[in-house]
Amino acid sequence: MDRVTLDRIDLSNHDLFVDGPPHAVFDTLRVEAPVFWNAERPPRKGFWAITRYQDIVTVLGDPTTFSSELGGVTLEEQSAEELGERRNFLELDPPRHGRFRKVLAPDFTPKAVGRWEAWLRDLIVRNLDEVLVTREFDFVEAIAAPVPIRVLGHIMGVPDEHHDRLIVLSDRLINSNDPELATVTSDSADSDPYRFEPFRSPDAAEIVAIGRALFDERRREPREDVISYLVNASPDGGAYTQQELEINFVTMVVAGNETTRSAMANGILAFCENPDQWQLLLDQPELINAAADEMIRYASPVWHFRRTATRDVTLGGVTIREGDKVVVWFGSGNRDPSRFPDAHRFDVTRPPSKHTHCAFGRGGPHYCIGAHLATLEVRVLLEELVARVQSIELAGEPRRVRSNFANGLKTLPVRVALR
Ligand code: HEM
Repeated sequence: MDRVTLDRIDLSNHDLFVDGPPHAVFDTLRVEAPVFWNAERPPRKGFWAITRYQDIVTVLGDPTTFSSELGGVTLEEQSAEELGERRNFLELDPPRHGRFRKVLAPDFTPKAVGRWEAWLRDLIVRNLDEVLVTREFDFVEAIAAPVPIRVLGHIMGVPDEHHDRLIVLSDRLINSNDPELATVTSDSADSDPYRFEPFRSPDAAEIVAIGRALFDERRREPREDVISYLVNASPDGGAYTQQELEINFVTMVVAGNETTRSAMANGILAFCENPDQWQLLLDQPELINAAADEMIRYASPVWHFRRTATRDVTLGGVTIREGDKVVVWFGSGNRDPSRFPDAHRFDVTRPPSKHTHCAFGRGGPHYCIGAHLATLEVRVLLEELVARVQSIELAGEPRRVRSNFANGLKTLPVRVALR
């Protein structure tokens, strides 16, 4: 891209993200305007773009000043009525947020997800046994898409027969600005009839219907799965309403599916572009733990989340007014050189504990509940790939999702040589 000047930057433009992550734009912002006013086309009001790691941590860690509840967590301006209908637990502030978080969190601690490791490894081994009979394939379609939904489905208690359909549906929701994936794009007037649905998507209803049937079933016959815990939970002495259950079922399916796929696919793309790093893992498999974190930092599967200022506040020397939209850009924070030396380098020897990334958020109440699960999935996949694959390279141009929200790959054609 040409030299980036502030007057030409518009992070609300999804096309900016199609040809590759716009890191040159973020580099300019972090240096020249780390708290940057990004105008938007009316009726949207514009937003503050927060691009430095430390400022992102400050915003996420202060839900009293930067609310998720007031205007939701997306760039969209939702009316109170729309937000009321669509609100999931990402869009609640403490203490109301805790009503969901505390019921779900115990199933996603490192210890709890560790129980799934053997099952997960078996799933991945079977997947690789099938896929690696060919040497050229689309990594997204063959591995990165089918694995995360099956893991999530297993833990939540969604039967196998729904998994492939949930991939299609959740893709349509999370990629609601890509005309190739969405049934109607959420920034078009065609989505108005669906404004009370998650992501303004006509496809949300089908996910809700799958969830509703499962909730009914588990009310009658509880099992050891997340759906059963949710449906029979009594947080603060009262059960969840049917609407709370349904909307948060959609949230879990969408939040845990495409994100993990994107970490795997973008991470493998990074290895294709940096074969020396693959060689390092072949020589020193003990680096795989750190490599999983580095894949997720480098990939940053979610571009942004939004908050709304509840009062006038100064950040990075700039005054943010009460009611303003404040948007944190995780992919930029993860390339902030003040936090990650030589930040654009994909480096599997980077010590994760010293350079904790913000791809899952950082320091706030909404820190990704699936972070340990997603990291485990990426690590086990990497272990099993390194055990089998001598080299991996691109066999064609990857295709990206049109979105300033999901940093997704539609396809990643690769060629492998086995060990
Ligand atoms: C590499 C994969 C993933 C990435 C990059 C990712 C990213 C994120 C981010 C950035 C947030 C918001 C953090 C904040 O606002 O402070 C979040 C929240 C969340 N994630 Fe993930 N996520 C991933 C995988 C998963 C998985 C596998 C699940 C399913 C178990 C999941 C479920 C959620 C939920 C339910 C929330 C909302 C938590 C809350 O509001 O308390 N995510 N995730």
